[in-house]
Amino acid sequence: MCGIIGYIGEKHPKEILLNGLKNLEYRGYDSAGMAFKNEKEIQIIKSVGKISNLEEKLKKQSIIDCHLGIAHTRWATHGEPTEENAHPHKVGKITLVHNGIIENAATLKEQLQKEGVVFNSSTDTEVAAALINKYYKKSMIKAIEEAIHDIKGSYAFGIICDDDPNTLYATRCESPLILGIGKKENFITSDIGAILDYTKKYVLLGENEIVTLTKDSYSITKNGKEVNRKVLTSDLSSEDTSLRGYEHFMMKEIMEEPILVDNIIQKYKNHLENLPDLKKYKHIHIVGCGSAYYAGMIGKNLFEEDGIKVEIDVASEYRYRNIIYDKDTLVILISQSGETADTIAAMRKAIEHKVDTLAIVNVDASTIARECTYKVLIEAGREVAVATTKAFILQVLILSLLSYKINPDKEYLKDLEKLPQQLKVLLDKSGFYKKLADAIYKHEDVFFIGRRIDYAISMEGSLKLKEVSYIHSDAYQAGELKHGTISLIKNGTIVFGIVTDEETKDKTISNLEEVISRGAYPIYVGTENCHYEHKILVPKVHKKLQPILVVPTLQMIAYYVAYKRGCDIDKPKNLAKSVTVE
Ligand code: G6P
Repeated sequence: MCGIIGYIGEKHPKEILLNGLKNLEYRGYDSAGMAFKNEKEIQIIKSVGKISNLEEKLKKQSIIDCHLGIAHTRWATHGEPTEENAHPHKVGKITLVHNGIIENAATLKEQLQKEGVVFNSSTDTEVAAALINKYYKKSMIKAIEEAIHDIKGSYAFGIICDDDPNTLYATRCESPLILGIGKKENFITSDIGAILDYTKKYVLLGENEIVTLTKDSYSITKNGKEVNRKVLTSDLSSEDTSLRGYEHFMMKEIMEEPILVDNIIQKYKNHLENLPDLKKYKHIHIVGCGSAYYAGMIGKNLFEEDGIKVEIDVASEYRYRNIIYDKDTLVILISQSGETADTIAAMRKAIEHKVDTLAIVNVDASTIARECTYKVLIEAGREVAVATTKAFILQVLILSLLSYKINPDKEYLKDLEKLPQQLKVLLDKSGFYKKLADAIYKHEDVFFIGRRIDYAISMEGSLKLKEVSYIHSDAYQAGELKHGTISLIKNGTIVFGIVTDEETKDKTISNLEEVISRGAYPIYVGTENCHYEHKILVPKVHKKLQPILVVPTLQMIAYYVAYKRGCDIDKPKNLAKSVTVE
């Protein structure tokens, strides 16, 4: 979703902001813009579509000499993705970029219009600029304080004032924003990946704290009082954001799975004490969005087999559902980014009800990692492709280890040791997946069926395929298909049968036969050889580990199908990496 980078220092900001925006590209956006400021003037340049369009514009214009700038990638919420609506927005003396949603924008706008403000866009962001401008007399900090007092909703702002070419201001609430500390230069950004080429030192900003940055100093205040915050060092490297010879991040990230899985195994296999003990809870709620939710579905299957009652919800439902909390409940929040708005809201609901919360997240500095009672980091490194791959596999691995801790058995440990190598062997068969993709890529409807844990795998396999290849795809509980959806099966419809669950595999095969007799073209995904022409065979391992070998093969299929269809694999249309609005 939207991304922010701001710079103040000794260099010209153009290249730094451009590089920052490119590093934010993976989050998904539909327009981009920049503002440059010197003693005399402010220059704003925006464009619709890819950052390369903005880059072209920047080449064609003469850019003012300056040392201060802000830049933004916008994912449209209020108003179409047009140049007028792209950020930065300028009203009076205030120019700003914004992530988040101002919920009372309409009311504020009406009021400001009555006071004579003329708006040029349909964004909520312009309303914020107008509000700060209204309150700006002498002090920017006071103006920002007054404005955010009026604003309801989520925001991260990077702000420049016409009167001051040497200061960058920022504030945030519910939307992430950090401060990057360099040598004779400082930054603001919504995502540390945007500034890793320049500094690894950063400061987290608390809610409604206002930061004032010059090239060699920064100060943070809240309600007029100074706030001291620790300078942290990121262990991510800018290497994480490079393709390292791969054509797409999605493939690079799938290929990282064996080593990352191995790292987690080595970390925990003899140190289960470093994982929370779930045995003490009578009831577990699992909450997440998208793939994180499907990882949770796998977790539900595992924990239920361990004898714990589990409820699972997508976060956007959980936050509004009337949940009956038992006293011994643990709420597990699964999120790669740790910043998904709905998952944050679900977490806060659980915290309000005074139950324990466990974050399974990738980003350590994220809101969810910080606010939960316990956290386990999946240590995936930076995931750039919008469609998650490695983070999903590591989420499942952590859930599997938590389940093993509840219910240890020797077979599991034996299989755990072999897992990274087996995964590597499976991923090395790219020719095989390419060939299978040849049989799929021209189709417009694909179904995935499975039961129990195989149904959860089906959901993720189906999501991966549709998000990157734009083929319509659905996943069904194998036994449910005949209650309606089977009417969609026609000659040649592709149906993936996920058949790894020992107790239900015969039943799923019968369901596969039912669709075959109605013309479907089956692709069998299982652990035992079979007579089907198209099959993906994976080694049989402990059932708590099986999805870790199956899902990557479906990720490979999704990748090659999307490749054959010429899709923008790393940045599928309409999608965002981290959905920071409701
Ligand atoms: C977006 C992404 C998905 C991701 C979901 C949850 O929709 O496109 O790939 O699964 O958000 O994100 P999170 O960061 O909370 O795991």
